[in-house]
Amino acid sequence: MLSAEPITNKHKLDLEKVRQDFPILHRTVYGHPLVYLDNAATTQKPWAVIKAIEEYYTGINSNVHRGVHYLSQLATEAYEGARKKVADYIGARHAHEIIFTRGTTEGINLVAASFGKQFVRQGDSILISGLEHHSNIVPWQMLCEERKATLRIIPVDENGEWSLDGLDDLLRGVKLVAVSWVSNALGTVNPVETVIAAAHRQGIPVLLDAAQAVQHMEVDVQGMDVDFIAFSGHKIYGPTGIGILYGKEEWLNKMPPTQGGGEMIRTVTFGKTTYNDLPYKFEAGTPDMAGAIGLGAAMDYLNSLGLPSVFEAESYLTTYAFKALQTVEDLRFVGNARNRAGVFSFLVGDIHPFDLGEILDKQGIAVRTGHHCAQPIMDRYCIPGTVRASLAFYNTPGEIDRLVTGIRKGVTMLQS
Ligand code: ALA
Repeated sequence: MLSAEPITNKHKLDLEKVRQDFPILHRTVYGHPLVYLDNAATTQKPWAVIKAIEEYYTGINSNVHRGVHYLSQLATEAYEGARKKVADYIGARHAHEIIFTRGTTEGINLVAASFGKQFVRQGDSILISGLEHHSNIVPWQMLCEERKATLRIIPVDENGEWSLDGLDDLLRGVKLVAVSWVSNALGTVNPVETVIAAAHRQGIPVLLDAAQAVQHMEVDVQGMDVDFIAFSGHKIYGPTGIGILYGKEEWLNKMPPTQGGGEMIRTVTFGKTTYNDLPYKFEAGTPDMAGAIGLGAAMDYLNSLGLPSVFEAESYLTTYAFKALQTVEDLRFVGNARNRAGVFSFLVGDIHPFDLGEILDKQGIAVRTGHHCAQPIMDRYCIPGTVRASLAFYNTPGEIDRLVTGIRKGVTMLQS
């Protein structure tokens, strides 16, 4: 997040050393050292994660919960150990409140399908915000269409911040609030605590899309009293294909499974099936064991660096990038939230984001261009898309300087 402190490189991370942990950061692209600034799309993986996956496949690969044999027991221990690591990482009361999914999208879809089936009826409403990623819009639209319910939207102001003036009225008749904690498109850190408190005053549960939050700030689900959070392993230095849905036990117990298959059952006859306990009720079929273990390794890795040091380094770099980008002539940020993570969406003059992104790419600088799977917020600004630079703690001020130089070079090329 942006730091209020003057820029001093006093954080405790030894970046040169930390960067040795990420093999991909040392490759070149088109003959230039890679500058990877697309961390909101996916983060790079440390050796600790890569090795954990290799060790899983070379040492203990076996199906979990299904065999009495030695390898199956080791795999089960490692898989359930990873669940416990995730629970500890986000401050969950119980490991069985952690459901392994394929990613944030699947977690949100699971709640939409399951909570929706159990609790949403004709005439009810779901509240989201104008800052959502498509994965926190479309599942609710599908649910509303099916149930003849209504989708309500928290409006967003010119700075890319929620307008919460009419929140209590917006919440009336709402069955569930589902909002992003950090905007993937603009970097806004949303005041989710305010929304959780207001929703709970009316007895409404809240789901947070935490895909862009868990890697940037401390998460304490019990302290926040949030009912559900969903996030992806690959955005927090873990593998792709694994994600987390956290839900309070009392909600998850009331919700039906959305997929049938092995492991999610207690008994099956042709007449009737009864379901397993949490978390297995929501984990039909053979899970992504290697992915879960890799995610656990990512969390161990972050803990070994020290989360305060990681977040401090990011905050320093975010402030550095904010100031550096402001020196580029004709650059305008899309979204100017007071509270923002290291995600910068911008446009330069009338240059098309794709053209600038391509020129940056040729200089070895990876950014994302386009609507960032968040078309409604692009529509809010009447633009088709932006250039987005998103940071991780392993990025350096030197890389930000290369971004700034690269943008200037792009402007010269495109405007000459
Ligand atoms: N949701 C990812 C992003 O924002 C892919 O880039």
